[in-house]
Amino acid sequence: MADLRTLLADASGRAADYLEGLDARPVAPAPEAVERLRTALAGPLPEAPSDAAEVLAFLDAHGSPATIANAGPRYFGFVTGGALPATLAANVLAGAWDQNSLSWVNSPATAALEETALAWLKEALDLPGEAGGALVTGATMANFTCLAAARNRVLRDAGWDADRDGLFGAPPITVAVGEEAHASLIKVLSMLGLGRDRVVRVPVDGQGRMRADDLPALDGPSVVCLQAGNVNSGAFDPAEPLIDWAHGAGAWVHVDGAFGLWARAAPDLAALAQDYERADSWATDAHKWLNVPYDCGIALVRDPAALSQAMSISGAYLIGSERRDAMDFTPDSSRRARSVEVWAALQSLGRSGLAEMVQRNCRQARRMAEGLAQGGAEILNEVCLNQVVAAFGDAEHTARVIARVQEDGTCWCGGTEWQGRKAMRISVSSWATTDADIERSIEAILRALGRNDP
Ligand SMILES: Cc1ncc(COP(=O)(O)O)c(C=O)c1O
Repeated sequence: MADLRTLLADASGRAADYLEGLDARPVAPAPEAVERLRTALAGPLPEAPSDAAEVLAFLDAHGSPATIANAGPRYFGFVTGGALPATLAANVLAGAWDQNSLSWVNSPATAALEETALAWLKEALDLPGEAGGALVTGATMANFTCLAAARNRVLRDAGWDADRDGLFGAPPITVAVGEEAHASLIKVLSMLGLGRDRVVRVPVDGQGRMRADDLPALDGPSVVCLQAGNVNSGAFDPAEPLIDWAHGAGAWVHVDGAFGLWARAAPDLAALAQDYERADSWATDAHKWLNVPYDCGIALVRDPAALSQAMSISGAYLIGSERRDAMDFTPDSSRRARSVEVWAALQSLGRSGLAEMVQRNCRQARRMAEGLAQGGAEILNEVCLNQVVAAFGDAEHTARVIARVQEDGTCWCGGTEWQGRKAMRISVSSWATTDADIERSIEAILRALGRNDP
């Protein structure tokens, strides 16, 4: 059996080979590679142990070729981001630490890293320093965490203790969202007992922004959800009039800024997301634009008491401390040390590196749109951030171009529906993407557009 040092050296060698090979391989795996993996995985639970080195070799031989190369520079699907070298290395070390980031007592080291990571995140995003925070699995759970705090606080203000008595018999809450709110936000409303369908949908404009000239009346306990960064167009709801309206009616304002909130970390783009600091809670992702490994979302709540009232836990064996115990701020209890990678990202980039990465990706998105438009594509959105929505004639032809691009493998772009049109969706959000990658990708997409085969 290989000793541990040899095994870990083998793993890091294979990981480096994998990453170095991404540039030369198609972004999507060959269907045969996925089939080979499935065939290799078939079979019952093994009766006998296997050598760890063989387990690793199996994963590399069968798993690596079947992966999507979203750690590489030309994956433009789903606002994915890559993993900065410092964060990947930190992830390996944190795996060895195997800390349970439940509380200070469980892991003083990662609790200290989490305090600093959260403080730096608020600095980077220029959000109130007093806000309470939680590192969770992604923006879906960050929205959940913030909106649980919002729900309980607006009910408490109406004289109802939802934490103790639940929602049965509680005063109704008005929840307002834009027509273009992200699907995960709607799911979260149902998870919180607020219902997918009983929300008030505010009409949006051609970019998917909530229209501030067509706002419903808010009455009683209310929560308004703004979006910083539409998942297709990248557009921002107009924060100033919407927050004036919501706060004027005593509503809690929540921001789903899964990727768009990072505009606040880039001086050239901060104007897009100005006034969002006046909200009461914010959800964003670190695994998107901060480029840490999956999974990592961030929930921030202006009043830390509102967050801890919704999330706190007690039990005879759950020993609290004088310091911040994560279990009082997060929906989960035992959890991995996401703080290590967030800290490593912010430490390695610094304020200037973070701004440069976000601004570069936005410049690259503009170049992508320009290059595609010059080659005959129709750009359907105002490219204000890192998102490009492109159509290539009718729905059928656009779908064909998307399929050809995915098959060609130079880059990967997904499909979407935008304002009733079938479209290609391009998200530029990786630290690894160079200007040359953008040019290569434009050529590949235009090659797919120019092909005449059915
Ligand atoms: C605006 C918005 N909100 C929420 C989410 C959900 O994020 P996650 O998949 O990290 O839960 C996304 C994902 O793209 C998003 O763009």
